[in-house]
Amino acid sequence: MSTGPVCLRDLAPLVEARLEAGPLGYFAGGAADERTLVDNEAAFARYRLMPRVLVDVSNVTTRTTVLGTEIALPVIVAPVALQRMAHPDGEPGMARAAAAAGTIMTVSTLATATPTEVSEAAPGAPRWFQVYVLKDRGVTHALVDEAVAAGYKALVVTVDAPRAGRRERDFRTGFQVPPHIDMPAVSAAAGHTAGITPAGFFGLVDTTLTWKDLEQLVNDVDLPVLVKGVHSPHDARLAIQHGAAGVVVSNHGGRQLDGVPAGIDMLEPVAQEVAGDVEVFVDGGVRRGGDVIKALALGARAVLVGRPMLWALAHDGEQGARWALETLRAELELDLMLLGAPSPDAVTRSHVV
Ligand code: FNR
Ligand code: LAC
Repeated sequence: MSTGPVCLRDLAPLVEARLEAGPLGYFAGGAADERTLVDNEAAFARYRLMPRVLVDVSNVTTRTTVLGTEIALPVIVAPVALQRMAHPDGEPGMARAAAAAGTIMTVSTLATATPTEVSEAAPGAPRWFQVYVLKDRGVTHALVDEAVAAGYKALVVTVDAPRAGRRERDFRTGFQVPPHIDMPAVSAAAGHTAGITPAGFFGLVDTTLTWKDLEQLVNDVDLPVLVKGVHSPHDARLAIQHGAAGVVVSNHGGRQLDGVPAGIDMLEPVAQEVAGDVEVFVDGGVRRGGDVIKALALGARAVLVGRPMLWALAHDGEQGARWALETLRAELELDLMLLGAPSPDAVTRSHVV
């Protein structure tokens, strides 16, 4: 009788009792009525998979490439802040798990470890760095320079969070970052981390940002730049026109503007507008191998996964995170076999109805 988790959805119930109300509410919560939070997962159930039969599936692979980097599965660890608040292994543990699973971790600007510390935890593993452009451009440039020097392979500029969404769970718990937790970037920009609230650290973000600034960043760094938090095909087109190497279609896990469509529902219009020119990624509500297939069929190169990786880390640190990625890979491999598509590249639009 297995006592441990069997699928990613088993993880949250395992950690809810162990996490304090503040951190739990921050990790789990969405904005306002949490309609988008709920819809991110519900939307996947509205799509159906359409298998093809009598295809040779004796040799199925989940391997693919993103921005020229080969990964073992089209699943990337989403940037998630404050990971040492979930488990002492924190971002370094998550990095070792992603490296062991053969995929990319996206390290947040609001991590509890520096880009260098995370890079040293899993030397040589491919990694992306997520950028919040802060009002303090000095801190932002220092972070980007550090990530470039540490060998990060891409920047992911998050553009849907000029201010924190209305995180009412945090209002109810009075959530503040616990005193033993440090976010190096926040401490550099605000002078301290202990006791800061999401409104506080989001308040460090530059709200004047426009596409001009994105173009400037693209020109300043010799790395591909992805734009994360794109909802509209029009913005996806603008992202390309300003030099982006790709977009992450995302509503920030329902944590920003409540009432926007689910990530998977926004994907196809964006992919129809820009796929072929740049790589398109999607996140929000990915919990199953079948969800990954639906995203691939609707035009994504790969998906990002947030909360399940956080719950996995909280459950069992690096080993938990590694288990979650390996579980998702096993599900994807089985589902590709049953779909009659022997690789991610073999998935077509006709595999989803
Ligand atoms: C996030 N997300 C996020 N995004 C980002 O660009 N920078 C960040 O620092 C964070 N931090 C963060 C913390 C927590 C607790 C959550 C839940 C999410 C958003 C994240 O990258 C991703 O867009 C969503 O989590 C995807 O939805 P799922 O997979 O959580 O459903
Ligand atoms: C959040 C930030 C850190 O969603 O992206 O809380």
